[in-house]
Order: sequence, then C-alpha cells, then structure tokens
Amino acid sequence: MPAQTTLTQHSPEIELPPDAATADDHRNPRRRRTAAEPEPQPVGDLVHPEPRHDIDKLILHPQVKTDILAGLRALEMREHLEAVWNLSAIQPQQGRCILNFYGPPGTGKTRAALGIALRLGKPLYQVDYSAVISKYLGDTAKHIKAVFLAAQEQDAVLFFDEADSLLSKRVATGESCSTSINQNRNTLMQELDRFDGVVIVTTNLFENYDPALLRRIQRHIHFRLPNASMRRELFAHHLPNPDRVTADYAVLAELSKGLSGGDILNVCVNAIHAGSADTDPAKWQVTQEMLEREIAKVKKAKAEHAGEKGKSRRKIGFGY
Ligand SMILES: Nc1ncnc2c1ncn2[C@@H]1O[C@H](COP(=O)(O)OP(=O)(O)O)[C@@H](O)[C@H]1O
Ligand SMILES: [Mg+2]
Repeated sequence: MPAQTTLTQHSPEIELPPDAATADDHRNPRRRRTAAEPEPQPVGDLVHPEPRHDIDKLILHPQVKTDILAGLRALEMREHLEAVWNLSAIQPQQGRCILNFYGPPGTGKTRAALGIALRLGKPLYQVDYSAVISKYLGDTAKHIKAVFLAAQEQDAVLFFDEADSLLSKRVATGESCSTSINQNRNTLMQELDRFDGVVIVTTNLFENYDPALLRRIQRHIHFRLPNASMRRELFAHHLPNPDRVTADYAVLAELSKGLSGGDILNVCVNAIHAGSADTDPAKWQVTQEMLEREIAKVKKAKAEHAGEKGKSRRKIGFGY
C-alpha cells in the first residue's frame, strides 16, 4: 500500500505568492486530516414529528394550504405506486421528489416540513451544515454522501432547512477554494439524482439558489406573511389558556401588521413571561397592554433590522 503523504508544510523549493494559503490553512486543497485529528461527527439529526406538527394546525393562506396538500397527495401517490408496482425496480429515482418551501422567516416552512413528514409516517433527517462542511480535502463530499445514505437507511424525508446557505450559487470563482466548492456542489447534485426519497428544501432567499438545484425541484410552495384574520387566529393559537387572557384580538391583528407567525409566537411567549411575574401563579394573567408592548418591541426590532439591510436588499422581495 502506498504511504499516505501528510502535508504539514510547503516544500521550500516552491515559491508561493505572499497571500497563498499555508499548509494548515483550510483553503489549501491538499490539506488532509492527520491521525491525531478527530473523526467526523454525524452529519444530521433524525427528527420524529409529533401529532402537534400536523399541517391542519398551521394557519395558512388557503392557496398555500392547497399547494401543500397537492404536494402531499403527489408524494403519497408515489408511495402507493411504489408499494404496489415496485416502480423503483423498473425506473430508479421514480420516488425522488424535491419540494421547495420559500418565503419570509417565521411563516411556518420548517413546521410544514415536519407536517409533511408526519403525514408520510416518516422521520425527518435534518442536515447539519456545520457538520457537513469540512475544512479537510474530500471530507465535505464524503459528508454529503453520508447525508443521503443516512436518509435512505432511515427511510426519512431529507430536509435541507435554510438551504440557501449550502446550495447558494454565489461561489466566488478565483478563490483558492472555488474548485473544491464546485466539486462538492457536483457531488450534491449527483447524490440528489441518485436519491429515491422525498427531499424538502426551505429558504428565505430563493434568488440565491443554484440553478442546478432549481432544475431538480418538482414543486415550489410560496409561504406568505399572514393577513389580519390569520394574525387574529395566530394570537388565539399561541395564547392557549383564554381564561387568563384579556385581549382584543381584532385590535391585536391590526397592530401586528407585517408580523409573521414566528413573530406572533414570540410576542405571546414574552407576554406570558411578563404576565407570570407574581409569586402567586393564581394571579398570572396576560393583558392587552402586555401584548401591545411586545408587538411594539418586535416591530421596532424589525424596523431597525430592515433599516440596516438598506433599501437595495428590500427591493429583492418575493412579491408579498
Ligand atoms: N402559519 C403558521 N401557523 C401557525 N404557527 C406558525 C405559522 N408560522 C409560524 N408559526 C409559529 O412560528 C414558529 C416558527 O415557524 P417556522 O416554521 O420555524 O418558520 P420558518 O421556517 O418559515 O422560518 C412555529 O413553530 C409556530 O409556532
Ligand atoms: Mg425555518
């Protein structure tokens, strides 16, 4: 067996430009893990959806709900076809289907992925990007393969949450790592093509997706910010003990314009904390004033964040 070369320093004969990656730099494409360095960690988490994740418990625009149910029906149909006809034996990848959930943060994309897995009776294999992306040559590609293998072995729905961070087209060519990034991207696309199951990708930044991924997506579902009547429902949903709440839901719905379901969750949880300060739990109450104060805080934080991002970013949008 040939001895493995371990590069710890550059050969003195090779002249390197002053900004070249050093031998230990992760940008060095020839760097390899030494025996002393730790073995790779698991590359994802297996999440078991619970009944509370059912799609019916989400408060969605009727069109979004229709799109999700249509996607689900198509997936269930594939399962039935596979069970009866063993289609994958005739045509591999017959079962593969990529769904894309896109839209603003906090609109229920991650929750809907759990809901789909629940309806399919499968766990969700949530990819851990920090474990997938490695500074060692070849390890990222190996991890990508491990992701697909794990999902296949567990018969799980493969879940790339906030996928734009992994599947972005914005690879700065000319950087010393661009070759290996493109190799990893190719590995990912090959694995997607070999995979026989359901894949869900979510993003807030749809425009960042790599076109190679876009081509492979069967169905796009656009999650939107809730309208007034949905916001009203979201408040009622996230304040489950009405006996302890004195609130005007119509006013809350009006005041919370522009907030997402995730924002409303935060408002309600913070108001619950504010209303549970008394030493006697019998006195714990959530009032309109507490809720309004929390709405104002979230709006202020969002306005500051939007201001920092600047007008140019806001122009991108998704048409909501
Ligand atoms: N459409 C919705 N219906 C009910 N709850 C929602 C909805 N959207 C968001 N939420 C609440 O906000 C939380 C975070 O939502 P999440 O699915 O993580 O949003 P996203 O993935 O789009 O950023 C959920 O767990 C839920 O409590
Ligand atoms: Mg999410």
